[in-house]
Amino acid sequence: MFETLKGLPADPILGLLTQYRDDPNPAKVDLGVGVYKDEAGHTPILRSVKQAEAHRLNTEQTKVYIGPTGSASFNTLMTQLAFGNDHPALLANRIRTVSTPGGTGALRVAADFIQRCRPGVTIWVSDPTWANHTGLFEAAGLTVRTYPYYDYANKSLRFDEMLTCLKQVGEQDVVLLHACCHNPSGADLTPNQWDKVVETLASRGCLPLIDMAYQGFGDGVNEDAYGVRAMAAKVDNMLLCASCSKNFGLYRERIGSCSIIAKDNAQADIALSVMLYAIRCIYSMPPAHGAAIVETILGSDELKAQWLEELAVMRARINGNRAMLVEKLQALGVARDFGFIANEKGMFSFLGITPEQVKRLKRDYAIYMVDSSRISIAGISHSNVDYLAKSIAAVL
Ligand code: LMR
Repeated sequence: MFETLKGLPADPILGLLTQYRDDPNPAKVDLGVGVYKDEAGHTPILRSVKQAEAHRLNTEQTKVYIGPTGSASFNTLMTQLAFGNDHPALLANRIRTVSTPGGTGALRVAADFIQRCRPGVTIWVSDPTWANHTGLFEAAGLTVRTYPYYDYANKSLRFDEMLTCLKQVGEQDVVLLHACCHNPSGADLTPNQWDKVVETLASRGCLPLIDMAYQGFGDGVNEDAYGVRAMAAKVDNMLLCASCSKNFGLYRERIGSCSIIAKDNAQADIALSVMLYAIRCIYSMPPAHGAAIVETILGSDELKAQWLEELAVMRARINGNRAMLVEKLQALGVARDFGFIANEKGMFSFLGITPEQVKRLKRDYAIYMVDSSRISIAGISHSNVDYLAKSIAAVL
């Protein structure tokens, strides 16, 4: 059986983890995987998380199966975090949320659920999108097509083309949108642009699937959910996938959520029953520890306030790194304008250099980034930014 297999290359993003780890160069810089790092290059456990974990350790009563929906309390709190406490869809009891193994687990659940609604349906993803979206949706049996999104030459959104394309997608199709902190470009829709996208998809009747992997990393937890809330207020059906990997720093705990927004309470129950069946067939039920941490934080005024502060620190550091890199490149007299990096949002931006230049940065300077020239901004620090800027200037 196995002799028919052909080996596959390492994942374009996760493969960088081992390459970076194995590089003996002391000056190496990791701008690869989207993981928050502090000034010292560490990814610390948040203090709010530590406290929540200590609390759980003392109060947890059982390790019995949690069931395919996961933790009810986590699901409620995540729904409120995404939609706000008084969203009309929430008040009308049209939302059902399940806990999932990370944001990727949420996307796979959503994809399997969609496949059960409309087998082989087309899902439109932004060009470009997160490298794993296409493989993940195709693995579930969906057909992936792209809509125009990022203009590499002008470092801006191709918004008019995007809208024109969305006006033509099939009424039965699915459209994937990034809630905020677009991965890989960092170029986000403005509230005004969101309103136009909402209006377009609502009039087409197609299904929006929103991926919110970075809530709180753009402008703030409520600001970053603008598109999610606007969409859910206008469409009958929608799916939302959320991740707690980045904003709670719970990467390896694998915790996220998938929400169904249905036309009414009865349809929401039916849709949930189908989603739970899909979950049972994939992994039966989600792990509980990450959800327990998040629900402890979000359920406590004190811990929630502390978490929001820690999130604000991460957001400010990333924004500071953006400005710092642009300044350093300008100070070196680099002719190319990198100012766009300071205006983009979240963990990523494209440097906009060629694959050959990306290769040279890795080979000659031990600077690691995805082949597309996507950089993870959190990997920049005061101690490596000069080296980074000089190296970029050298390969340009
Ligand atoms: C990334 O894009 O770097 C992160 O979302 C990590 C991953 O799983 O790819």
